[in-house]
Amino acid sequence: MADMNGQVALVTGGIRGIGAAICDRLAARGMTVAAGYSRDKEAADRFLESHRGSSVHQGNIGAVEDCERVVQEVLNQHGRLDVLVNNAGITADKTVRRMTPGEWDRVVQVNLSGAFYLSRAILQHMLDRGSGRIVNISSIIGESGNIGQANYAAAKAGLFGLTMSLAQETARKGITVNSVAPGYVSTEMVAAVPQDALDRVIAKIPAGRLGEPDEIARVVEFLADPESGFITGQIYSVNGGQYM
Ligand SMILES: NC(=O)c1ccc[n+]([C@@H]2O[C@H](COP(=O)([O-])OP(=O)(O)OC[C@H]3O[C@@H](n4cnc5c(N)ncnc54)[C@H](OP(=O)(O)O)[C@@H]3O)[C@@H](O)[C@H]2O)c1
Repeated sequence: MADMNGQVALVTGGIRGIGAAICDRLAARGMTVAAGYSRDKEAADRFLESHRGSSVHQGNIGAVEDCERVVQEVLNQHGRLDVLVNNAGITADKTVRRMTPGEWDRVVQVNLSGAFYLSRAILQHMLDRGSGRIVNISSIIGESGNIGQANYAAAKAGLFGLTMSLAQETARKGITVNSVAPGYVSTEMVAAVPQDALDRVIAKIPAGRLGEPDEIARVVEFLADPESGFITGQIYSVNGGQYM
C-alpha cells in the first residue's frame, strides 16, 4: 500500500461509531485526521486526547456556512486536505403517513446536502493539487429502502447520484469519489433500534451478525489509498450479504 504519511483526512462524525473507526485506520497509516462532530464536546475532547496531532471541528453539516467554515479551519490548521469522508448521518424514522416535512428536511439536509456542501467547499483545493479522495458513507437502506425510513433511504440513495456525478466531473483531475453502503453495524445508531426489531434484522443477515465499525473502515482506507486511483463512482456494499 502507498505511503499516506503527512496526508490529511476530514472525517465528519469522526469522533464515534463508524467515523471513529475510519479515523483510527487512517491515523494508523500516518495520516493526520480532522474529525467533525456537532454536539458531543466531551467525546470530541476524549478523541483529541487519544489521537495526537489530530483536530476536532464542531459544526452542523446540514448548514452550508458551517461546512465552509470547517473546511477552512482544516486547511488553516493542517495546510492541505487529501481525503474527505462524508460519514456523519442521522435518522428520524416514521412512516411517510406520519413523517413531518421538518423530519424529512432535517434528514436530507444532514445525510445528503452536507456531503454536497463539504465536497463543494473542498473541490477547488483538490483540483488545484490534482489529487483527492472523497468517500460518501451511504447505507444498505439507500439500496433497498425500508419501512419507516423514506427520508433516510432517499438521502442515502441520493448520495449514490452525487457520488456518480461528481466522480464523472473529477475523474480526469486525479480525484476519486466513491460510496460505501454499510449494512447494520454495531454503533449507537443501531443501539437505538429496539432489541426485538434488531433480532428480526439479524435473522435476515446471511452472516448471522451485525457488522463491526472497523469492517466498514477498512474499505474506506482502501478507497482513500493513493493506489486506488482507478476506482471511482462505485458503491461498495459491506453488509454481511444482507442485500445483494
Ligand atoms: N450504524 C449502522 O448500522 C449504519 C448502517 C448504515 C449506514 N450507516 C451510516 O454510517 C454513518 C455513521 O453511522 P454511525 O452508526 O457511526 O453513527 P453514530 O454513532 O450515530 O455517529 C454519528 C456521528 O455523526 C455526527 N453528526 C450527527 N449529526 C450531525 C450534524 N448535523 N453535523 C455534524 N455531525 C453530525 C455525530 O456527532 P454528534 O454526536 O456530536 O452529533 C456523530 O459523531 C452514518 O452516515 C450512518 O447513516 C450506519
